[in-house]
Amino acid sequence: MTQPRQSPARSMFGSLVLIAVLIGAGAAAFAYTAGWFSPQRLTPDKLVAALAPPTGAALGHRRNHAKGICFTGVFEANGAGSALSKAQVFTRGRYPVLGRLNLATADANAPDATVRVRGMGLQISTPDGEVWRSAMIDPPFFPVSTPQAFYELLLASASKDPDAMKTFAGAHPEIAAFGAWAKSAPWTGSYAEERFNSLNSFVFTDSSGAEHTVRWSLLPAAQPVPVSPEDLAKRGPNFLEQEITERVRSGPQRWTMVVSVANPGDPTADPSKAWPEDRRAVEVGTLTVQQIEPEPDGPCRDINFDPTVLPSGMRTSDAPFPAARSAAYARSYDLRTAEAKDYPRTVTDAKP
Ligand code: HEM
Repeated sequence: MTQPRQSPARSMFGSLVLIAVLIGAGAAAFAYTAGWFSPQRLTPDKLVAALAPPTGAALGHRRNHAKGICFTGVFEANGAGSALSKAQVFTRGRYPVLGRLNLATADANAPDATVRVRGMGLQISTPDGEVWRSAMIDPPFFPVSTPQAFYELLLASASKDPDAMKTFAGAHPEIAAFGAWAKSAPWTGSYAEERFNSLNSFVFTDSSGAEHTVRWSLLPAAQPVPVSPEDLAKRGPNFLEQEITERVRSGPQRWTMVVSVANPGDPTADPSKAWPEDRRAVEVGTLTVQQIEPEPDGPCRDINFDPTVLPSGMRTSDAPFPAARSAAYARSYDLRTAEAKDYPRTVTDAKP
């Protein structure tokens, strides 16, 4: 049986309806992704906006850890990490490294002695074409348990309400331990004297298929020398970058990488909880920083040290942070790379 033929006007109307439906569905998907249907939902845009200092974001720079300096070097694996992960990075050998030493502030011009938390972005590449990216900080635990709490902390610390931080601390008592660390832990005069910690947990898979939930740290070879923030302030606003440049010029700086393995029941999702000291700890190799390069033209400038960029043999765990961080870092990366004119690459690029 033949179908009755549609009139040309009717079939055009049908096509228009189809196009409208498709456009509508696309717009709805966009609105959903952007969080328009669920204003309470935490989005990367909200996280990145909340990081901005009162004077506005530092255009062209990272939206957090905005002040930093690039380095290159080598990771020398001793082979012991292969017991935990089949990733090539743990096979005995030397692998090229690119990284960034930085301060946990959204202000690219913050004086070094005013920023309590210091960080390291790290990328290790292996001949199989895989890369391992990580972004670590020097406190032994994170101030809060969840990305949502981190967002609320940013809002509370920017709030004009004098009770905002007190209210926040009441709802998130885990922040007290971080406050105590910030008050009592010694400051040092060098990035080379800092221990950097992953804090978030990840899952390593070994060659037998067994899984191990881990965190890792870089322990400095240099002996930390405590210096008060008042004395550090006298060294000038950029003493950390000057010091590490001179220090590495006179000799490479080293850190031992230690991977700690969780016991069943350890808090793997919550970076505000340190694991007990007696957990299995495997020294997997040595990071050697061989050269420091200023950020404007340096190799770390356009790298996103996204903690979910992992080689085969590593994956994210039940911790919600890496996914939230990945989305926020991508947003920050998109913004800052589109603003390159606000952060000239070389002296010759600079506006007159
Ligand atoms: C939800 C929580 C977090 C948010 C929203 C956040 C946000 C950001 C953003 C937007 C950047 C700049 C990224 C770029 O432009 O490349 C950044 C950098 C960084 N973050 Fe986070 N972060 C979070 C949690 C953490 C945690 C838990 C750690 C450490 C354990 C950490 C350590 C770092 C470090 C070291 C950098 C600098 C990396 C580099 O040198 O490029 N962050 N963060």
